[in-house]
Amino acid sequence: MFNLFGKKDEETGEVKKQALTNTLGIDLGTLNTVVAKPSGDKFDLYKIPSVVAAKKEEPTCVLAVGEEAKSMLGRTPEDIIAVRPLRKGVIESIAQAEALLVYAMEQGSNDNVESIDRIVVGIPGDASEVEKRAVKDIGKKAGANYVLVISEGLSAAIGSGLPIADASGTMVIDLGAGSSDIVVISLGGITDIETIRNGGDDVDQNIVDMVKDLYKVEIGIHEAEKAKIEIGMVHSKKELEILKTSAIGKSMETNKPKKVEIDSKLVADAAEPIIVKLIEALSHVLERMSPELISGVYNKTVVVGGTSQLKGLKERIFEEVGVPVEISDDPMTVVAKGAAIVAAEPRALEPEVRLKAMK
Ligand SMILES: Nc1ncnc2c1ncn2[C@@H]1O[C@H](COP(=O)(O)OP(=O)(O)OP(=O)(O)O)[C@@H](O)[C@H]1O
Ligand SMILES: [Mg+2]
Repeated sequence: MFNLFGKKDEETGEVKKQALTNTLGIDLGTLNTVVAKPSGDKFDLYKIPSVVAAKKEEPTCVLAVGEEAKSMLGRTPEDIIAVRPLRKGVIESIAQAEALLVYAMEQGSNDNVESIDRIVVGIPGDASEVEKRAVKDIGKKAGANYVLVISEGLSAAIGSGLPIADASGTMVIDLGAGSSDIVVISLGGITDIETIRNGGDDVDQNIVDMVKDLYKVEIGIHEAEKAKIEIGMVHSKKELEILKTSAIGKSMETNKPKKVEIDSKLVADAAEPIIVKLIEALSHVLERMSPELISGVYNKTVVVGGTSQLKGLKERIFEEVGVPVEISDDPMTVVAKGAAIVAAEPRALEPEVRLKAMK
């Protein structure tokens, strides 16, 4: 048996147990940062909007993080900016990403960041070495002794309790706000990965643009997201009920507030370019896949991430690429949970270790 938290005395060979370390799993997302802290056989979860408010003249001077900063988005006085430190899954501002990570660690440790020994952070699968290093450096600067970065997709697979150690293969599709990962896993490792830097954010932007063209009304990006979440679907052969909702924007003709109607078909049209890219990426992955892995993937592919909740997605993916997929019933926290499992048990990544998937 291995001892995860023990140190072997070189002379006597005796394994000395250390106090169980404080560990956290963190999904540093474009829209949401989720912290998972193992607690018995469950997790304590903290969801933080990935938004930081800072002084305009001095962007390293952070004024608010998370919920408080989110409420300032688009509504800040002139000398304050509220921004998302990550765009398309990539860190745009190191100082602000650091503030976000420190805040996440504070939340997860009850304001006792010094007590945190190990954090595991999920980042996009195609992150460059520079991006990985940046996250590691930020984690260390924020106070963690040991920082491991892993692909969000692998983390999602572990968090979903998928049989990642099996040779038969399994696939995870993570549709986030800024980026989407397709990850094929076998024997505990990633055998193929494809990332597109598109996600739910692009759907929101397309809704804004389409409403502008159609009604000559400008709606805010949050109104667009709200409508998408309420009535969103993607085009598929399945007959889905067309739902309707409304949004209030600014008429470009009169400059007055104007209510417009948005229906599920408009959202599906807005999502279409992203869905087409996803299908293309999936086709590439399947093209490269060995026949040995195909059957495992056919039997076990899970879709996670907030954008996986668009109705009709499961059907569309099957129609296009012939892979039956399961939409996760816990799409927005599995990456953090998987990272927390790895943080508590780094050998979870090794093939011979059977995972005890925590709920
Ligand atoms: N019910 C829903 N239907 C459709 N989209 C949704 C729903 N709920 C959330 N979303 C969208 O999911 C996205 C957020 O998902 P998630 O939290 O997985 O992203 P993230 O991890 O922050 O981003 P990334 O992984 O790209 O860095 C947003 O675009 C949000 O609008
Ligand atoms: Mg994500």
